[in-house]
Order: sequence, then C-alpha cells, then structure tokens
Amino acid sequence: MFELPSLNYDYEALSRSISGDVMRFHHDKHHQTYVDKLNAVIEANPEIKGKTVEYLITNVGSFLPSIQTAIRNHGGGHYNHSFFWLCMSPNGGGEPKGEVAQLIQAKYGDFQSFVDEFTARALGVFGSGWVWLQPNGDIITTANQDTPIAQGLDSPLLCLDVWEHAYYLDYKNRRDDYIKSWWNVVDWDSVAKRYSER
Ligand SMILES: [Fe+2]
Repeated sequence: MFELPSLNYDYEALSRSISGDVMRFHHDKHHQTYVDKLNAVIEANPEIKGKTVEYLITNVGSFLPSIQTAIRNHGGGHYNHSFFWLCMSPNGGGEPKGEVAQLIQAKYGDFQSFVDEFTARALGVFGSGWVWLQPNGDIITTANQDTPIAQGLDSPLLCLDVWEHAYYLDYKNRRDDYIKSWWNVVDWDSVAKRYSER
C-alpha cells in the first residue's frame, strides 16, 4: 500500500513563497487523498497490488477499463505531488549550476529566457495541470494529474503544480504571482541530482 511521503522540510519552511497553511492542506489533505483513493483501487483489485506507482501509471492501459481513470488520476496525483515536494527547498532559489545550467543555456540562451518560457507555459495551462522540465531541455505541460512518464517521456527534472489548490489560499487567482515567487524555492541541487542520475 502506498503511503504519504514526509516532506524534507517543515511546513513553514517555504513560507517566503508558499505559506505553511497551503503546504499543510496541499500535503496532508490533497496528496493524502490521492494516496487513499489509489490504495482503495488497489484494495479492490488485488491483481495490481505490489506494483510501483511508476508501473501503475505507465501501464494504465493494460488494466481493467473500469479502473483506468482512477489509476491515472490518483496514481498520477501521488506521483506528481511526491515529485513536486522534492523540487523545493528552504535553501532553494537562484540559478542552476554545472550541467543543468549548460542544458538550459544550450536550449534557451540564458536562465531568464528559460524562466520566461516556463512561466508562460505555466500561465497557459487551462484549468488544472502541471509544468515540467525534461532532461532534453523541453518544457512540457500535462493536464489534471497526467504525467510525462505515462506519455512515454523520460523521468522529468523539475515540476510545478498549477492547480488552484497549490496557490489559491495565498495568491487567490494570481497564478502569475505564485509562479514568480515559486522560483525562490526551486531546489536546483535536486534537479542536478536527477539530471546526473538520468
Ligand atoms: Fe497539487
């Protein structure tokens, strides 16, 4: 059975960008609900027990049609949020170094141009979804709780949750202010680690 992963930092630790209230609701309520609903599907369908979440969401088409949507939404919700927490740190912000800096420079020219493009894509997500930086430097978006790996793409380097539940308590409808502030907590060290281990 899946469990809600603990955060590597306190709920209040990202408060210069995301309040403790939002982190508590987002992690303890929203993410927990995805975990609980994913576990409920597995409970009712023992043939998919013991699989990783990555396996479940990348093989969703092979399961009973009646459970595919639930696996996609709740499995994706668990995968995406587990990934998102790792993309932020109280010591985050600034610019990437080394190989990741080179990747971004090669694709976008400079860091600010990358930030502008990522931000534009995040603002362009209609409704709920996610923005991702891929190991080839591409910026992609997914709707709802869809994931890059379920689309046959490589494991991502970085993601941003642009569901309203990620920012509404702090920023109301101002997704642009949320994104602008989020760059101050991006954990580029974790991005570099994922890039080097790809
Ligand atoms: Fe979320």
